Amino acid sequence: MAQKLWEKSVQVNENIDRFTVGHDRELDLYLSKHDVLGSMAHITMLESIGLLEAGELKVLLAELKNIYKRAENGDFVIEDGIEDVHSQVELMLTRKLGDVGKKIHSGRSRNDQVLLDLKLFTREQIKDIAKDVEHLFNVLISQSNKYKDVLMPGYTHLQIAMPSSFGLWFGAYAESLVDDMLFLHAAYKMCNKNPLGSAAGYGSSFPLNRTMTTELLGFDSLNYNVVYAQMGRGKMERNVAFALASIAGTISKLAFDACMFSSQNFGFVKLPDECTTGSSIMPHKKNPDVFELTRAKCNKIQSLPQQIMMIMNNLPSGYFRDLQIIKEVFLPAFKEIKDCIEMTTYIIDKIKVNEHILDDDRYLYIFSVEEVNRLASEGMPFRDAYKKVGLDIEAGKFTHNKEVHHTHEGSVGNLCNDKIQEMMGDVVKNFEFDKVERAEKELLNR
Ligand code: ARG
Repeated sequence: MAQKLWEKSVQVNENIDRFTVGHDRELDLYLSKHDVLGSMAHITMLESIGLLEAGELKVLLAELKNIYKRAENGDFVIEDGIEDVHSQVELMLTRKLGDVGKKIHSGRSRNDQVLLDLKLFTREQIKDIAKDVEHLFNVLISQSNKYKDVLMPGYTHLQIAMPSSFGLWFGAYAESLVDDMLFLHAAYKMCNKNPLGSAAGYGSSFPLNRTMTTELLGFDSLNYNVVYAQMGRGKMERNVAFALASIAGTISKLAFDACMFSSQNFGFVKLPDECTTGSSIMPHKKNPDVFELTRAKCNKIQSLPQQIMMIMNNLPSGYFRDLQIIKEVFLPAFKEIKDCIEMTTYIIDKIKVNEHILDDDRYLYIFSVEEVNRLASEGMPFRDAYKKVGLDIEAGKFTHNKEVHHTHEGSVGNLCNDKIQEMMGDVVKNFEFDKVERAEKELLNR
């Protein structure tokens, strides 16, 4: 067993060590790049307040940049016996540079270090997800525009109800993503505040310049109160998880629709053959497994806020090791949801719709309200018209020309997709990802 950052005279029991380290040695790899970047900001600040010499800062930054590159290329490893990413980076510096490596931790604790790493990691993930969501949104809007005149039945209680269209169907999911993005943006704003300098959760007697690290790392502002900064552990993850759950909710509903509408009994859409899977016994099968897996994975992601809450709920203020367990459910969730969004986008872009669904008279009654409204606009009281059409249906005398004339905002005849696109454009622009990108690039070029 290697020496720990915190080990003094007594060596910790091997089983206790294994239990407390848990999955950190794999999970902290998600954070390696960000841990290094955080250290670069921290030591730049330490030099500015006289806790490092300019020459020391220079060699430390150069070596941290090497470690950053390794992390970026996937070559960073946490060695056997090393507890976590924070210990590994400090060890690598000390091995290479000697005692100067031991100076970087002044005014810092692993508690604010991991808080910082999680925020830097998460804001990068949010950027990827926002891009993916925007891409899916664009595909949905373009399908909605393309098929705006193709009618399909709308359902309530899964019973045929009123005329709908593929324009409405695709467009509904696009607009749903706008609201999901609002959530994601709010979560991003909470995430993009600097916890560094809160140390173990109560600040430091060194005259740290927290405003400086805030600017170096491109944060919007700080978590000012050091106790609150530490209270943000788990809270940030939970709030981001709510945003992911919101996106996942949209996608799992879309996935269910796609499975159902592509079944032979509906036959409303056709998934591209290359996107379906076969059966080992039934030669005719073309199954929508991708959407089934997407539905299940997205449902799992919808349980993420609850999982995080169960881990951290009712903890008092201050750091607790409980918080480490959140990483196990939180860190892998991003890749999972990105996969789901990307798969969905690929298939929705290639999906074919049936333009002749309503030729089948089993859907005739979806026009019943059209007929009632026609009579009502000719002067018959609505309730009388409703009754007349109802009696015609019962007597098997109902007919309709299968045309619709909906004009109000958001209806079959007036989708307002341009307005929906405007709303998405507004949310996307508010993220200001370029500000963060610029700051991180500058820090890496110091
Ligand atoms: N692995 C720890 C975590 O994720 C890092 C912080 C350790 N701090 C401590 N006081 N033991 O929470």
